[in-house]
Amino acid sequence: MTWQPINVPQRTIMTPGPVEADPRVLRALATPIVGQFDPSFTHIMNEVMEMLRALFQTKNQWAFPINGTSRAGNEAVLASLIEPGDKVLVPIYGRFGHLLVEIAQRYGAEVIELHCEWGEVFEPQLVIDAIQLHEPKIVACVHGETSTGRMQPLQEIGMYCREKGVFFVVDAVASIGGVDVRVDEWCIDACIGGTQKCLSVPAGMAPITFNERVAEVITARKKVEQGIATADDLCDVTTFTPIATNYFDLAMLMDYWSPRRLNHHTESTSMLYALREGVRLALEETLPVRFARHAYHAQALQQGLRAMGLELFGEETHALTCVTCIQIPEGVNGDRVRQFLLTHFGVEIASSFGPLHGKIWRIGTMGYSCRKENVLAVLSALEATLIQHNVRVVRGEAIQATLAFYMATEYATQ
Ligand SMILES: Cc1ncc(COP(=O)(O)O)c(C=O)c1O
Repeated sequence: MTWQPINVPQRTIMTPGPVEADPRVLRALATPIVGQFDPSFTHIMNEVMEMLRALFQTKNQWAFPINGTSRAGNEAVLASLIEPGDKVLVPIYGRFGHLLVEIAQRYGAEVIELHCEWGEVFEPQLVIDAIQLHEPKIVACVHGETSTGRMQPLQEIGMYCREKGVFFVVDAVASIGGVDVRVDEWCIDACIGGTQKCLSVPAGMAPITFNERVAEVITARKKVEQGIATADDLCDVTTFTPIATNYFDLAMLMDYWSPRRLNHHTESTSMLYALREGVRLALEETLPVRFARHAYHAQALQQGLRAMGLELFGEETHALTCVTCIQIPEGVNGDRVRQFLLTHFGVEIASSFGPLHGKIWRIGTMGYSCRKENVLAVLSALEATLIQHNVRVVRGEAIQATLAFYMATEYATQ
């Protein structure tokens, strides 16, 4: 049997992740491997920490990636903070709130869930009231809920948590690099980002940052694994609860991401090159310009969708600008439409989960995929596909409306 080389089709990826990797990121992935303690590599590690601080808009010392997909970042932070029996409050407004609950429960937390309708977000005062009532140790919240395309305002909640000494953990997986995320200003104690969305890096790393309040708790739970522990690391584990995971133990990871360079795991060298290039691209573009670009192309897309006669889903005031949700017209099989788009146009869009499965489509305008030709491609493909599926749409207007929008604005030439 002869195995053929990998040969994947050319796609226009307009999902909320993974999106198209930036060509510069793909080139960075081809950089030769160096040893993880080679000074040339540890130099890159330090650079990445510095770049992540800028991306997260924080002065925190601790900013580094976890090897693993975005949920690895969620798990590392929650596992390192939670001791069995700790109260964790989770406001849930979509699928990824449930993920925070799932992780927290697996580490023995007593979880208090707050729920609102999918498509809406929480009035901050509601969360504050729940904090007052339940007095949790941690509030864990999603910033940009990819499954519903909504964004939770965080600052008020963060300020209240800080005042009460509650840890505020935020999943900014979908928003980092595409939407403003202000870790310090919003009093976020620990924040997790994603690579495969607005950073246009493949999945496989989760940049995180956390402050000294978090570091203090983690350090107090530090147990270095036998085989690499020194005499100074010896501790009496009957006097405290060590972190319940080795791979996601932030205490050991802090020792790896600092001058000690504790030999904990083998760093994913190539992914670190990729992350570095993805964040370099974001900082080169500058965060304000990048956020404006994401909002701008989403607006262009939405002009076209509305002109086609489609209805958008969700409360507009709290829209996550990089994920546009569309109501699937009555009687239309959403998955069949998506399959047609992929088969005939090479365009990928997403469905959603739970109560929204079969009810909405989601189109991402993220990172490298967030550009004019992609927006125009998805609109024209969608219109033609809907006509093929006997959906009554306004014909020929979508592209014209979006082109008019582009031509009337200064970004038209980009
Ligand atoms: C908001 C949010 N959190 C967490 C995750 C989990 O990320 P991953 O699939 O990379 O583990 C996702 C993935 O889409 C997400 O959108």
